[in-house]
Formats: sequence, C-alpha cells, structure tokens
Amino acid sequence: MEKRDELYRGKAKSVFKTDDSDYLVLEFRDDTSAFDGKRIEQLDRKGRVNNQFNAFIMVKLAEAGVETHFEKMLSPTECLVKCMNMIPLECVVRNRAAGSLCRRLGIDEGAELAPATFELFLKNDELGDPMVNESHAETFDWASSEQIEEMRSITYRVNDVLKKLFDAGNMILVDYKLEFGIFHGRIVLGDEFSPDGCRLWDKDTMEKLDKDRFRQGLGNVIESYEAVGQRLGMEFV
Ligand code: TMP
Repeated sequence: MEKRDELYRGKAKSVFKTDDSDYLVLEFRDDTSAFDGKRIEQLDRKGRVNNQFNAFIMVKLAEAGVETHFEKMLSPTECLVKCMNMIPLECVVRNRAAGSLCRRLGIDEGAELAPATFELFLKNDELGDPMVNESHAETFDWASSEQIEEMRSITYRVNDVLKKLFDAGNMILVDYKLEFGIFHGRIVLGDEFSPDGCRLWDKDTMEKLDKDRFRQGLGNVIESYEAVGQRLGMEFV
C-alpha cells in the first residue's frame, strides 16, 4: 500500500490517499483541540497514543461483530482505513450526565442515565456542532431514518462492549461520540475511539481520565490517556 497525497487535514488527524481507491491512511497528530477548534495545543506523544489506543479499541469492536473502517496499524502514528462517504453527524451515547447535557438540561454531573441517552450533533465547527434530530437529518439529507436507526443500534452495541471493557479496568464509560460512513452501501463505524472523544472516570475516585483534563486545564493529559490504555492491557510504543 503506497501513501499518496494529503486529502484532508482535520483538527487532530490528517487523511491521505493511497494507490487503492478503497483505502486511506489516517495520521494521528499531536494537535489537541477543544471547544470546536477554538483552542489548539500540541501535546507530546498524543498522536502515537491515540493511534494505538484507537487500534486496540477498533480490534475489540470488530471481535464483537461491529464492522469498523480500521484495517491495520501502519506505524506508531498511522493506520490504514476504508475510504468511506462520511455521514456529517456525531452520535453520542451517555451513561452518566456530563458536559453539554448538564449545561442544556440542568442535570447534576455524574447522574446515572438509564436508559443511556442517544443524541445527534451536526459536525460543523462554525456552528458549534449543534444538536439536531432525525427529522433534520432526513430533511437536510444528512442521513435517512433507516441509516439513523442503524447508527443508533450500532452505537448502543458499542456501549455494551466498551462499558464492560472499561469496567474491567476500574473505569466508568461516562459518554462517547461515534462517527459513521458508508462503505460499499453499508453503514460502517469510522473516525476514532480514543480518550479525545469520550469521558472516562476512575470508578473509585471519580477522577477524570479523558480530554476533560485538557478542556478543564487539569494537566497530565497524555499521561492519563496512557494510564487508561495500560489499565486495559495496551502497551504503547
Ligand atoms: P458533550 O458533553 O460536549 O456534548 O460531549 C459528549 C461526548 O462526546 C464527550 O465524550 C465528548 C464527545 N464529543 C466529541 O468528542 N466531539 C464533539 O464534537 C462532540 C459534540 C462531542
């Protein structure tokens, strides 16, 4: 597989074409963004930690029967993925209240949410990733109701798998965001799963172990991502 021209540069990852039109190379950079790109900083080792973290999780999901775009790791900061038509929606499941849910609905941080909520956000930094619903998705052609139903079902399935995985590492999976694309007509999980796009708390101390450490200036951001990975059995190179 030959890496070719850069196709797209996101806030934290760059996407490159390959000599096979079905596959792309994702490069995880050290750039760390928050508040819809209003704050961007470089965090040493972040690209390699997130690439390896994501690879570990994507393999676990595939083993559990969730189809993902992940093919293989190519280097500490790069992986090979399927080239998909991305659906411009972010699917968020919450097991506990945190972040925008607390701000929007006045729910206390940490409140247990049963059943876990499912929300859709439009992927649009200029608009601040506004919350949208299925009716908007259909009207504006972001996704059909069948596609939304499938994304919802896969997002909950991921919850079943990952809640158990993090629980075994003495952590609470508070919430997370997934993105999907279409590959040869199928809805397939894309983007990444790393502590950048989820919230993880220590089960005993409730210490925040995810990107909230960066958003809230708590320090030791990447050290914490590495500690999360190690608790799950990852070995970073
Ligand atoms: P929120 O509380 O800010 O709505 O975020 C919910 C979860 O989804 C949290 O783990 C962060 C993640 N998320 C992203 O990673 N990127 C985004 O653009 C959004 C809206 C959420």
